[in-house]
Amino acid sequence: MSSKDIPDVNQSRMRISLCDLGQRGYDIETGSGNLDRIGLFLSRFKPCSRVILLTDANVRALGYCTIVERSLSGAGFDVCVESIAAGEPSKSIETAVKLWSKLLAAGIDRKSILVSLGGGVVGDLGGFIAATYARGIRFFQAPTTLLAQVDSSVGGKVGIDLPAAKNMVGCFYQPLGVLIDTDVLNTLPEVEYACGLGEVAKYAVSLDAELFGILETNADKVRSRNSELLKFIVTKCCRIKGRIVGEDEFETTGKRVLLNYGHTFAHAFEIISNFKLPHGKAVAIGSIYAAKLAKRIEMVDNDFVERQIKFHKTIGLPVELPDELLNTINWNNIIEIMRHDKKTEAGNLKFVLPTKIGQCKLVNNIDPKNIIPE
Ligand code: GLY
Repeated sequence: MSSKDIPDVNQSRMRISLCDLGQRGYDIETGSGNLDRIGLFLSRFKPCSRVILLTDANVRALGYCTIVERSLSGAGFDVCVESIAAGEPSKSIETAVKLWSKLLAAGIDRKSILVSLGGGVVGDLGGFIAATYARGIRFFQAPTTLLAQVDSSVGGKVGIDLPAAKNMVGCFYQPLGVLIDTDVLNTLPEVEYACGLGEVAKYAVSLDAELFGILETNADKVRSRNSELLKFIVTKCCRIKGRIVGEDEFETTGKRVLLNYGHTFAHAFEIISNFKLPHGKAVAIGSIYAAKLAKRIEMVDNDFVERQIKFHKTIGLPVELPDELLNTINWNNIIEIMRHDKKTEAGNLKFVLPTKIGQCKLVNNIDPKNIIPE
């Protein structure tokens, strides 16, 4: 197969089984037109007393909630819809309290299913509500952003933010399944699409050379959101993540942590921007900083860094911080933030760094002087 060709996903719908989670293994189904058939997909989880369909105002305005509600009702589910304000501030304890109370008022019980229809905020918050209400009700993911489809909907990380720290309160709580409709990516705003691509590029550069080659030679199709390519990308990323989560669900063996290329820089950049720099773009920029760090400690050569920079540019990703951040950045402050990252232990500065295209490893005890760009 030439890397110019997009590999055929064989069928428009592909089931990916996370079999390594034993009884809790679940299917991820990707394809076009899937929102319409969510009722059929969920029918295997009957009996179900009620479905609580959690979404946000943006998804509702696009009509996706109506499609899902109709499909669920058509399959005989008793559905109630709850909508939150779009955006990160909804991932709060205040919204959680409101939702727990609404679930109680709506008669949601342990035979109910909470369906999250939306991006990362709706998915993370919905999973947290499902994990905690009545000590846990069943949960299903229908992600509608590229970032949620390739990353946050898979693997069971759910939670809410604290005012001073994103994703600080939460748990691992796997969904019953994930149903992905790649058609919805056509209506995704440009910035959201770029954020999803930031995570896609992460998989390609640090974990999968085949994906990298295909994206590199089909950059025009990436930018134009070619539907066959998007189906391939989403399926491929879910497969990579599904395999890793199956091997290291709770991030304890050193495998799952490898999903975090670029993230140590990205989290610090998000904080210094007061979260104005969106996560996926921060990951894209952070992974360029990580590549340069890897070069400084002689893990990769300059060609690697240049190739990654060119790759980001051709698929429409940023490679540098916006001027207002770059001009005011204080690297001592960045290093302090990194020392307090929730993945940091005893101040040990560790980074996922590339060794070659498609491969990476976790490197401990990085000397802070190597983190600061020349
Ligand atoms: N986003 C990284 C993970 O789920 O582990």
